[in-house]
Parts: sequence; C-alpha cells; structure tokens
Amino acid sequence: MNRQTQASQPGSAKGIARILILPGDGIGPEVAEQGVRVLEAAAKGAGIELEFEEGLLGGASIDAKGSPITDELIDRARAARAVFLGAVGGPKWDALPFAQRPERGLLRIRKELGLFANLRPATVFRALIGASTLRPEVVEGIDLLVVRELTGGLYFGEPRGDALVDGVRESRNTMVYNELEIARIARVAFDAALLRGKEVTHVHKANVLEVSQLWVTVVEEVAKDYPDVTLHHQLVDSMAMLLLREPRNYDVIVTGNLFGDILSDEAAMITGSLGMLPSASLGEGGVGLYEPVHGSAPDIAGEDAANPLAAILSAAMLLEHSLGAPEPAAKIRAAVEAVLNDGHRTVDLAGEFGLAAVGCAAMGDLVLQKLEQS
Ligand code: IPM
Ligand code: MG
Repeated sequence: MNRQTQASQPGSAKGIARILILPGDGIGPEVAEQGVRVLEAAAKGAGIELEFEEGLLGGASIDAKGSPITDELIDRARAARAVFLGAVGGPKWDALPFAQRPERGLLRIRKELGLFANLRPATVFRALIGASTLRPEVVEGIDLLVVRELTGGLYFGEPRGDALVDGVRESRNTMVYNELEIARIARVAFDAALLRGKEVTHVHKANVLEVSQLWVTVVEEVAKDYPDVTLHHQLVDSMAMLLLREPRNYDVIVTGNLFGDILSDEAAMITGSLGMLPSASLGEGGVGLYEPVHGSAPDIAGEDAANPLAAILSAAMLLEHSLGAPEPAAKIRAAVEAVLNDGHRTVDLAGEFGLAAVGCAAMGDLVLQKLEQS
C-alpha cells in the first residue's frame, strides 16, 4: 500500500508529484507552513520534484464557501499524490449545526479518499524524556505505533442522529464493522509489525460488545498469515491503564476508530507533548493524507507559539509513504532530533526544561538548518 511505483500514482505528471496543502484553522496554517518548507527542502535534497497547491477545509472553507468541504476540493484531493493538512476547528464555528461543523470536512475527506488506515507513531526523543508527566524510567524507550481504523465504526455507522421518541429527545450512533473492514486494518498492523518489534496488540471491548468479538475472531484469522508476529488482545479500559503503567511493553496497537482516537491522544501525551505526534492516513486509492495529531489550538493561533514538529514529522511520513522516499524522511527525523538535542524548545515543551522558548517559524528555521547540514 505504501510503496507504489510512480507510474501508478495519481497526482503525478512527468514525475512531478502534486501535493495539496490544506492549512485549515487555528494554528493549522502556521504549522503547515513550516511542514511544507521542510518537506520541500528534504524532497529537493533527494532529487524529488514537488508541486504544491492550496485548498480550503474546515472553518476556512465555511467562511469562504459556506460549507466545511466542497466537492471540488475532494476532486482536487483525489487528483493529488498526497494531502498535507494543518488542523481544523475552533470556537468561531462551535455554534453551527452538527452537519456544518469544521470537523465534518475532515471526516468527509477521510471517507471519500478511502483512508481507512491511520498510523500514529508515538516515540520518545531522548532530549524530551523529562517532558512527560510520567517518570523517565517509564518513558524511556517508548516506541509505539497506533494503527487506528479511520473510516468505520461509531464515527460513520448508521442509523445515527436525533429523534423524538414519545416526546422524549433521544440520539444514537451505531458501532458497526464488517469482517472485510477489520481484516484490512489488521493486515496493515501486522505488516507494520513485521518491520518493527513483531508484536500486535488488538484493543477491544469484547466482554461487552459483539462488534469487538468479531474483531477478535477476524484479527486471529489474519494473524495465521503472520506466524512471525505475536498477537495479544487487550480490553480498552485496561489498555488505557497499561499505557500509563508500562508503555514500553507495546509495539503495534490496532483498534477501531473511537478507541484509536482516545488511545492515540494518551500515547502522544506520555511521550511528552501532543505537539510532537505526526500521522499518516492511507487507503486503497493511492492518495495519502498527512496531519499532526494535535488540534487547532485556537487559544494560541496567530501568536507564532505553536509547535510545528508534529507537522514537520508528518512531512517525513509523507515522503516515506506517498513518495517511497525513506532516506529524506530519516533526514528530517534526524534534523528534528538534533534541534532538540541542542536544547531548542517551543513553548509547549520549554517550561519543563527551564529553557527560553523559540517560536513556530524559528523552530522551522532550526530544522531547515540542520537538514541543510546533513
Ligand atoms: C483526530 C481528531 C479528529 C477525530 C476530530 C477533529 C474529528 O480528534 O484526528 O484524532 O476524532 O478523528
Ligand atoms: Mg483525536
């Protein structure tokens, strides 16, 4: 899924890969700008030619077009090699009816592009071990990959919505997965595990939910094709606890949409800051979407105070998964590590170390400098 030949890829003309940038809302535009600078420099250094175009998603699209996403944007995304996203949402649009909120734009683009596999790696940079709220000896060596199913489950199940039943207000969402959806995300997790620690932990709630029982059955069927990978099953409530107690024990975690949303924020936070976590959303269509796991942080938007490293690390994932270029991706990660080792921190991390904070753009500059030296 992730290393296709250039010829079979959408969004490429004469070997030039087209990247659609969706800066979005809040700190989205600031962090996306730094991510794109680093992406462009790393690609250039590897002889990869990129072409960038911009589009509107979320609140930015509501303000300009009256809707959080347009059909035209979806067509442009389908025709691109990859989509690079900042963040969506903010208090300005909180009062809108549910179907018109910024988040609907994000959910629709994931669904329309068939991006069922969301990869959220949570690793600890040595220099940031002290930034976690957990003790250093618990945190050191965390290297997790959360593989979250992204286009099914409670987020998309039908029936859904509000109803008036005998004059009483009611609302429902439906958790539904079929075996094909479960098997394909399980394969992504097992394939990833083969290249890592060869362990998969499937997270579920099978003591209560039939849906989870089907997950257990199907994940075990898929596991038969991966004799070299060890499979564990873990209830989601105890997983939330175990991630705090012994996060180093886990390699690949595979789970459904809602559990994955919750556990990936927890995994991010134990590594130090939500501002560090990148993500890739992949599917069958060949277009990947890359975004920081953090939100739009409207409280600090426009202040040049955001941490752009999650966006920059998302650019590395784009190079790896959509452009088949692991070398420049590794260079970006090494540049980020070097900048942190030099003691530079954005404000979300600086307090922990008593260091003066650098701004969002300055952090981008520092990473670019390291990249150019490499
Ligand atoms: C995430 C976010 C989104 C989600 C929101 C913004 C819709 O929390 O990417 O984790 O729930 O998927
Ligand atoms: Mg989330």
